[in-house]
Amino acid sequence: MYNLLKGKKGIIFGALNNKSIAWKVAERAHDEGAVFVLTNTPVSIRLGEVEELAVKCNSKLIPADATSVADIENLFTQSMEILGGKVDFVLHSIGMSPNVRKKLPYDNLDYDYYQKTMDISAISFHKVMQVAKKMDAINEWGSVLALSYIAAQRTLFEYNDMADAKAALESIARSFGYIYGREKKVRVNTISQSPTLTTAGSGVKGIDGLMDFTERMSPLGNGTADECADFCITLFSDLTRKVTMQNLYHDGGFSSMGMSQQAMLQYNKSFDECDCDIADKIRGVIK
Ligand SMILES: NC(=O)c1ccc[n+]([C@@H]2O[C@H](COP(=O)([O-])OP(=O)(O)OC[C@H]3O[C@@H](n4cnc5c(N)ncnc54)[C@H](O)[C@@H]3O)[C@@H](O)[C@H]2O)c1
Repeated sequence: MYNLLKGKKGIIFGALNNKSIAWKVAERAHDEGAVFVLTNTPVSIRLGEVEELAVKCNSKLIPADATSVADIENLFTQSMEILGGKVDFVLHSIGMSPNVRKKLPYDNLDYDYYQKTMDISAISFHKVMQVAKKMDAINEWGSVLALSYIAAQRTLFEYNDMADAKAALESIARSFGYIYGREKKVRVNTISQSPTLTTAGSGVKGIDGLMDFTERMSPLGNGTADECADFCITLFSDLTRKVTMQNLYHDGGFSSMGMSQQAMLQYNKSFDECDCDIADKIRGVIK
């Protein structure tokens, strides 16, 4: 431990169970000396597991639906009372798509669900910052962070409408980051994390194959939830005060790769079994 967050106060959204990225961030932030409030939807708090984290981190747990401005206002008001002043960091670790849950493909979306996906997974980030700024609830040089995924830039099979939400999330970080930096010296970033086996991650169709692929494609391998938490801590610390409006990849190098030796080895194996047209066509060209 480095005491990187000694004296810092924060709010952490999105710890559901001990697989959640936010759970790992809370544990690391506690180890680094921060005090913070934990929050999640009333229903996920009722599930009970996050209580255990609150006890472990000596934190208060405040229910809030991140799509509700009233809930977010109440959250900041109570958090400042509990923590004795403004906060220094906020983690937005929230994502959900009813279309993904209902297995509706991208060319057959339900538009009410689509709006929910956008509201929960992207617009809530704007709501959190707009409320915080209006209430002047974040100290100068504070840090606001959300978790994203590379589907914001590239199309990944079955990521569905969450790709649109992540693209909006990253854009909100830039647009709000400009205003928040200019007026209050608050920095705003997103971390684009490797696929990770959490509750949200498991909802992505074919997550096992995807994780195997990105592991093979990344020179350093997939970033784990614990490693992602380490990265979040550096962005909450004073060591990164001029980093803002960025989408920062935490993916073992995946985002810069085209084809790797490991992936090629695995891909070539499939030629022996594959009788698809594309393979025949390529064989013809190679001969
Ligand atoms: N798991 C992955 O593969 C992966 C990869 C890149 C980015 N991410 C992102 O990381 C973040 C955290 O996800 P995770 O993988 O730890 O999964 P998770 O399921 O543990 O966390 C998602 C959280 O969102 C919360 N949530 C849903 N609706 C909400 C609402 N209306 N208000 C407040 N909270 C709400 C859930 O209760 C849950 O705690 C998400 O933004 C996710 O998209 C995940």
